[in-house]
Amino acid sequence: MTVRTGVIGVGVMGAEHARLLSEAISQSELEAVFDVDSARAAAVAANSGARVFDDPMVLIKDDRVDAVLIASSDQTHEDFVLAAIAAGKPVLCEKPLAPTVEGCTRIMRAEAEAGTRLVSVGFMRRHDPGYVEMKRALESDQLGRPLLVHCTHRNASVAPGHPTSMLISGSAVHEIDIVRWLLDEELAAVTVYTPRSAAAAVGTQDPLMLILESVSGVLIDVEVFVNAAYGYDVRCELVADRGTILLDSPAATVIRSSGSAARTVPADWRPRFAEAYRRELQDWVFGIAAGDPARSASSWDGYVATEVAQVSIRALETGQRQEFSLMEKPSLYR
Ligand SMILES: NC(=O)c1ccc[n+]([C@@H]2O[C@H](COP(=O)([O-])OP(=O)(O)OC[C@H]3O[C@@H](n4cnc5c(N)ncnc54)[C@H](O)[C@@H]3O)[C@@H](O)[C@H]2O)c1
Repeated sequence: MTVRTGVIGVGVMGAEHARLLSEAISQSELEAVFDVDSARAAAVAANSGARVFDDPMVLIKDDRVDAVLIASSDQTHEDFVLAAIAAGKPVLCEKPLAPTVEGCTRIMRAEAEAGTRLVSVGFMRRHDPGYVEMKRALESDQLGRPLLVHCTHRNASVAPGHPTSMLISGSAVHEIDIVRWLLDEELAAVTVYTPRSAAAAVGTQDPLMLILESVSGVLIDVEVFVNAAYGYDVRCELVADRGTILLDSPAATVIRSSGSAARTVPADWRPRFAEAYRRELQDWVFGIAAGDPARSASSWDGYVATEVAQVSIRALETGQRQEFSLMEKPSLYR
């Protein structure tokens, strides 16, 4: 079976997903595109032969569109996901599933009414070879129980006035999802610390340090620093009873010259997670072809990420430790 996907929103992320679906993913065709910026949609379609739609809801219902990928701006995700569920079509939605807990809850309710899982959320780190290896090592039991996780999330720079809350809802949300996935348990509480702000940070408190506590008592520190100047850098080290697992920068090439050894640091997340995006899409397409359309991060994971991010923003604003109180997990996701 060939899975024919319609992509809604073809900016930075959507154009790359569309290219992968058209050129790099097996059993996949890029069937349709829509963007409110019609010139962008036309440019993506010109390279792939996909049809350009002028109404996203018509695209979602179209008979030749088997599945929908949403990479439009955050606040538009909910309506498109709900329309895809109503049409009975698998949908991969970029993170966040919805920017509000209420929006995520509406999506879970719609999926429950449909009686089947159709929604995947684009937490692509779950497909990154480094994180996958970390999880495998942890599950092998060679190292014992996890005790601490140290996470680093640095970007080269952001525009002046970048909202501080975005360091949590846009950046740390990836750590929130990946530690839940690695540890296979929920988070219980958060405290957010605000050290001295970087000289390059204009109108933004940057960096932030989040201390998350898991339900079983693992402590997770997350440094988010979005004006780190030198490039994009994501790291993770897990400390366990009998050893540690380190996810370092995966650059393969070291240049030794003039008395020093240098590794290239990517400018942004796209080269760092290129393989994760490819594997995420391939797994999604193979899953749809095999009748198992939602085997990655679920609507439940999307809801938890939004809930934890929102409560962490409250911890930032109040300076107080906050506890999470998640709703009961619906049976569809157990
Ligand atoms: N998983 C990741 O690593 C990752 C990284 C970056 C961004 N994202 C997410 O991907 C999404 C897109 O981010 P981006 O960086 O590509 O942004 P972008 O601004 O480059 O692209 C967004 C696109 O959506 C279009 N758009 C806006 N409203 C629309 C609507 N109502 N219908 C259709 N199209 C609409 C815009 O015209 C634009 O082309 C966001 O939700 C963002 O949070 C995920």
